[in-house]
Amino acid sequence: MKPIYDQYNRLHDYVRISVTDRCPLRCVYCMPEGGLPFFPDDRVLSQDDIVQMVKNFVDMGITKVRFTGGEPLVRSDFVDIIQRVSNIDGVTDISATTNGLLLARKGKALKDAGLQRVNISLDTFDADKYKKITRGGRIQDVLDGIAAAGDLGLFVKLNVVVMKNQNDNEIIDFLNYTRDHNVNIRFIEFMPIGNQHDEWEQSYYNLDRVFDICKKNGIEYEHINLRGNGPSENYQIKGAKGSFGVIHPVSNKFCENCSRLRITADGYVKACLYWDEELYVRDAIYDPKKFRAIIQKALDNKPLNHEMALDNADNIINKAPTWRHMSQIGG
Ligand code: GTP
Ligand code: 5AD
Ligand code: SF4
Repeated sequence: MKPIYDQYNRLHDYVRISVTDRCPLRCVYCMPEGGLPFFPDDRVLSQDDIVQMVKNFVDMGITKVRFTGGEPLVRSDFVDIIQRVSNIDGVTDISATTNGLLLARKGKALKDAGLQRVNISLDTFDADKYKKITRGGRIQDVLDGIAAAGDLGLFVKLNVVVMKNQNDNEIIDFLNYTRDHNVNIRFIEFMPIGNQHDEWEQSYYNLDRVFDICKKNGIEYEHINLRGNGPSENYQIKGAKGSFGVIHPVSNKFCENCSRLRITADGYVKACLYWDEELYVRDAIYDPKKFRAIIQKALDNKPLNHEMALDNADNIINKAPTWRHMSQIGG
């Protein structure tokens, strides 16, 4: 096993593999209202591709694997994927990011197969607002999924993308929710991924304000460490059962600690979520040496950081933000 580093000497030990670009929802921050043309089936990584790729990654020092989508649970062979990946020596953390809708139905089989953790999207407690933000989702389905995941003993986090004038007034409700629920709620800044700059400009909400809200409401909290490999900074309200986290890529870049690689469902490696640069790697899956060389090339070109806030736009040379929407990357 030989670990991999990028050109800035950042160790990469975490891969996010998107297993499909499909999802029954159309969340406003993730997909356009009219949907997107989905990748044709023959362009999507097969189960064998995914398993072999994880084996290759383990030889490169990757120990943490997160499955994303679209919505990973819509893949009919997702339980088999988890089962086979959990049998690979060297994988220590297996998680999924999901809309939660299918967890009540599939959670047990996934847990039995080896899934350890789920991060579930829930941007509001209000049924009508949920329907609006997801463009059609039924909140009860995700609430049932969250309850099922908790009962099964999966380690559960909730992802809340905060948007101005949409759900920012619920930050206080989410904070209070952590007092008597043993769950980690992560507030996430809306990121301008996938040609949606107008929506982003209208809805972006700077998460520094979470701490102002705490102050205004006399909420005392302390910094905590929590299981996870992502960029969340975590806190706990004094005496609370649960905790909250803040993911603020726009207002406060965390790129210096980046340890993550992404594989898209159509077989490309993306070294950074934000930029256009990607390399086709599906062809090399069954040739581990070639596979490693392509991944290394992606890391040799990995930019130091993103420019989501465009605060440095004049200095961007020969680079463009990705054409992909979030559902085609997996977050
Ligand atoms: P754990 O910390 O291991 O639980 O996972 P995670 O937070 O990395 O995973 P999740 O899929 O739940 O991601 C939460 C949010 O963080 C999503 O909005 C992701 O797009 C965002 N995110 C995760 N990694 C990165 C990253 O490297 N860069 C940026 N800009 N955003 C990221
Ligand atoms: N900005 C921030 N987070 C996003 N997610 C999806 N699109 C965006 C965006 N534009 C989050 C979802 C999901 C995770 C994969 O990424 O809430 O939890
Ligand atoms: Fe890593 Fe790119 Fe995210 Fe920065 S924006 S933390 S470099 S993936």
